[in-house]
Amino acid sequence: MIGRGGLRHLTTRPKRWAALALVVGSTLILGACSDAQNNGQNPLRPNGPAAEKIDNLFVPIFWIAVTVGVFVLAGVVFVAFRYRYREGKNENPKQIHGSTPLEIGWTIIPAVLLAIIAVPTIKTIFDLQEAPAAGTALEVTVVGKQWWWEFKYKEAKVVTADELVIPTGTPVRIRLSSCEDTLPGECNVIHSFWVPELAGKTDVVPGRDNHMNIEADDPGTYLGQCAEYCGLSHANMRFRVIAKTRADFDQWIEEQQQGPAVPFVESDGSTPAGPAQELIATKFACTNCHELNDPAQASYGPNLVHLASRTTFASGYYQLTRSNLIDWVLNAPSMIPMQSKVCRETTPAADNECVGMPSFTEDTPAGDPVMTRAEAEQIADYLLELK
Ligand code: CUA
Repeated sequence: MIGRGGLRHLTTRPKRWAALALVVGSTLILGACSDAQNNGQNPLRPNGPAAEKIDNLFVPIFWIAVTVGVFVLAGVVFVAFRYRYREGKNENPKQIHGSTPLEIGWTIIPAVLLAIIAVPTIKTIFDLQEAPAAGTALEVTVVGKQWWWEFKYKEAKVVTADELVIPTGTPVRIRLSSCEDTLPGECNVIHSFWVPELAGKTDVVPGRDNHMNIEADDPGTYLGQCAEYCGLSHANMRFRVIAKTRADFDQWIEEQQQGPAVPFVESDGSTPAGPAQELIATKFACTNCHELNDPAQASYGPNLVHLASRTTFASGYYQLTRSNLIDWVLNAPSMIPMQSKVCRETTPAADNECVGMPSFTEDTPAGDPVMTRAEAEQIADYLLELK
């Protein structure tokens, strides 16, 4: 029972408004958790065996936790009401400090509960780690870079970026590396590879290979995100897993194995094959970081031989449109935070510490050419032909 004084107090206007605001506010916040609009990164909407195993573990444990939570909260509310201060009746309730049955009870019950939960948890961890039977899986090496993802198809010898294309219904064995085996000394920082609708997170650690399995049941696009803080553009380090039917995937691989749709170099293998290629290779030296000729070759920046076959660029942050690409070629650091201007001004170039694209309009190193918009358009138009 609430005393008369208390009741009058609760019904005063400011309190009522506060209560109303709390109800409305929490409704709106909880509403944001609704899956009415799928954002493509919903771990509660598993779309492959790995994510399903995690979901099958999560859901029962969630309800156990809810049950425990409800009991504890109900107990707290009960005790708070039952033993609240009442005028004229100010006696301490019976003290139970040091009660042996209670102490043993609330030690043993959680311990037993945790022991029960541990069984399926450990089983799931081992299940997820198990390599698929030999010959059944597509093997892909994923290299975490600052700030984008490189995908290397072992058997097909295809290197791509930002969009990991996989066949449906086929296990994909992913080797996660922070180092580029083909580029000596090219090691990156720690990242974490996460596609919520397909699997859990796995860290990408320099000097250590981690493995994980993903598999998509249905064709579609599954959004991924770097889940370990890795520097300026960690939040922008996205990617997509694009699952295609087996036939579409085979066709995609075949296309990716071809050389550039518009040759980058003349048949003699050294001179650029046109004015745009000349700008890319010579004037702005994009080829110091990017590969444009060999679809199997890893490079410091993304392999661009089939850039135009992707829907996005800049680690999936931007749609691959002509205007986005022109802006990017001109001044990438204005579109995504990168260690560009200040770093380049203050760090000796030999230290090789400044990560990311330079701006060709603002912080071009002394003596290097400044890019005009017409040149950026010419470069972008060439890149957009690279289907
Ligand atoms: Cu890569 Cu965060």
